[in-house]
Amino acid sequence: MAGPKASGLDLGRIVSEVHDELATRIGEGTVADYIPELARVDPRQFGIALVTPEGEVAAAGDADRPFSIQSISKVFLLTLALGRVGESLWTRVGREPSGSPFNSIVQLEHEAGRPRNPFINAGAIVVTDVAMAGHSPREAIGEILRFMRYLADDDDIAIDRAVAASELDTGARNQALGWFMRSFGRLDHEVEKVLGVYFHHCAIAMSCRQMARAGLFLAASGRDPLRGHSVVRPARARRINALMLTCGLYDASGDFAYRVGLPAKSGVGGGILAVAPGQASICVWAPGLDAFGNSRLGGLTLEALARRTGWSVFG
Ligand code: DON
Repeated sequence: MAGPKASGLDLGRIVSEVHDELATRIGEGTVADYIPELARVDPRQFGIALVTPEGEVAAAGDADRPFSIQSISKVFLLTLALGRVGESLWTRVGREPSGSPFNSIVQLEHEAGRPRNPFINAGAIVVTDVAMAGHSPREAIGEILRFMRYLADDDDIAIDRAVAASELDTGARNQALGWFMRSFGRLDHEVEKVLGVYFHHCAIAMSCRQMARAGLFLAASGRDPLRGHSVVRPARARRINALMLTCGLYDASGDFAYRVGLPAKSGVGGGILAVAPGQASICVWAPGLDAFGNSRLGGLTLEALARRTGWSVFG
């Protein structure tokens, strides 16, 4: 679609101009190398896509190339787990920013194995454990993949098995988190099984266009506005957004809220999903990361996009 819409914003033009402006910095940052399969990704890739509740799509650059969604999957696992057990989930995991790196273990001992929030690795491992209830690991992985395909309205989405295997081979830190939480009796399933499911949902591959579409319900009060389905109730969408704002970029969440002003979730594959409530679901991808494990160019792109559109949850 082309031309200005009811919002008065020409989103197609804004997205392509923001892309061209930031493309001069393509390749900045460092690809995640603690997962060998991700270390092989070409850092010189950069895509943006957004979808509005009216169905307008604007995209630029490598918006159709699948990337490893990694921790962005944690938003969708949280949605599934809340659907399963409701607010009782919060007996298992907190809702506070950790102020620590995504893979930190230090707070866990002081806090009796209850992770600070669902987006740090320890928290997402617990959320995965909850979402697995009543399922074999294979069924749980299938359910998560189906949920992503349903939300993105695209059956082509798949898991990159090489990435999942790579993380299984090298994920000593996540193993440590799993076993440590288990020592506090915090996991219902065997550590190996929970981590198997966790690594597979992190290894889902999606393009910016697919991810922006999948996140649209968070920008549309919990509804899929394009099919008229309810995904979650409005209050739940609001709360997931609140957690993304406060915890979605780990120990850089405060700085990101200051610079961008939108709820977002990053992944070490270099993707960031951002939500402008009522306006758009946005996904940017550039594999080079900053010291916090967030896409460097992705953050700069969202900052420029928020400035150009005036989108912010802060008025
Ligand atoms: O567990 C891990 O370390 C990865 N599968 C996910 C970490 C991640 O994406 C952190 N995000 N910025």
